[in-house]
Amino acid sequence: MDRNSLTIRDNRSGKEVTLPIIEGSEGPPVVDVSNIFKDFGLFTLDPGFRSTASCQSEITFIDGDQGILLHRGYPIEQLAEKSNYLEVCYLLIFGHLPTQAEFTEFKNLVTHHTMVHEQLQKFYQGFRRDAHPMAIMVGVVGALSSFYHEALDVEDAHHREIAAYRLLSKMPTLAAFSYKYAVGQPFMYPQNRLCFVENFLHMMFAVPCESYHVSPVLVQAMEKIMILHADHEQNASTSTVRLAGSSLANPFAAVSAGIGALWGPAHGGANEAVLGMLGEIGDPDRIGEYIRRAKDPQDSFRLMGFGHRVYKNYDPRAKILRAAAHQVLQELDRTDDPRLKIALKLERIALEDDYFVKKKLYPNVDFYSGLILSAIGIPTNMFTVIFALARSVGWISQWMEMMAEKGQSIGRPRQLYTGAKKRDYIPIENRG
Ligand code: CMC
Repeated sequence: MDRNSLTIRDNRSGKEVTLPIIEGSEGPPVVDVSNIFKDFGLFTLDPGFRSTASCQSEITFIDGDQGILLHRGYPIEQLAEKSNYLEVCYLLIFGHLPTQAEFTEFKNLVTHHTMVHEQLQKFYQGFRRDAHPMAIMVGVVGALSSFYHEALDVEDAHHREIAAYRLLSKMPTLAAFSYKYAVGQPFMYPQNRLCFVENFLHMMFAVPCESYHVSPVLVQAMEKIMILHADHEQNASTSTVRLAGSSLANPFAAVSAGIGALWGPAHGGANEAVLGMLGEIGDPDRIGEYIRRAKDPQDSFRLMGFGHRVYKNYDPRAKILRAAAHQVLQELDRTDDPRLKIALKLERIALEDDYFVKKKLYPNVDFYSGLILSAIGIPTNMFTVIFALARSVGWISQWMEMMAEKGQSIGRPRQLYTGAKKRDYIPIENRG
């Protein structure tokens, strides 16, 4: 018997089929079912992909039971402590930590492509003044495809690399513009003398009539947020980018699709929802009421920032952000923020509660990120935009990996059809 295979038997026909088991470098092996329809006439059904790997990837590894997250093999804790966002970007895209010369060249390239075409700015004027900045981001990032399409050959590795530089460089500019538009302030142009994160904060918070100094405390906090959101293997938005890109679509259009997927409160929109929830709770004495609601099967309310499809242990990113939240609020003299007190108490109560313990519901990355972003001065409706900004490197790395694959083909899931069987059309006058 081949140990690296799984034999299944169709009891209807008595037919047996042997499926290969493939080992990865970490994590559970997979059963290769790609030929099961050809050999067996069956599809597999796994809505929500709870047991299905959609691709092979060398970029990010998660062990949800142990609470482990590795990028190209490096633990997230080490990257968050010792690295910086641009270096993590290099690592995700190219697979290794850069030498000094490689990093300098990479940094130069990213820094010198931050301006966007003046015409792109005009897109913003078409949005309602009160438009959600994520709605704006879906539009303007998608609009990048209209500037870079004819000359972009997605089958050419060098072109793909240029697209990656463009996306990384222009995302901070587009994100900051979406904020400036909402508050009615002039757009601030990027400054090449500033580092990536400083530049973003400058474009967000500077105004032309005053000089603006970017606080190093905020830069450090923002760096951490960016590193912790850079990639997370095949989550909903990344899978969306891969699926859209698999049709050989323009990468900026594919990323725009990913931004749409990220927006939902079950995914990246949770950071915004957490602060809304903490504000709504308002007083630590009301936490019990919200815990009761979260546990009530008749109530659709969920504790935002709790639970994860993959982590059945403390999300390692949440652990880092919990400590960072304390540090940032302390350095900014904001430890009296009532939302921090509510968050800490809520976390403690939930972690001791039988319902959350049994269902292995732990705080996720979104539980603490909002508190830090809010301390930095980022308005709540920009939280998911920051997530998108940080995640753009994950999306583009995963897209590049997919496009470089030999035999890359369009993603096309099948279905279990449960609708009407074939029937004949009835003219309207004969319908009962
Ligand atoms: N509060 C209360 N109950 C919960 C929660 C929660 N936050 N999350 C899951 N449950 C319960 C759920 O009701 C279900 O109970 P039962 O088995 O009795 O029906 C059980 O736990 C399993 O939930 P699920 O919906 O099957 O789990 P999932 O893997 O499909 O969903 C999730 C994962 C993240 C969408 C979900 O935990 C959730 O909605 N959390 C709140 C939103 C949130 O914080 N999202 C951010 C995710 S992390 C960052 C990111 O991915 O962008």
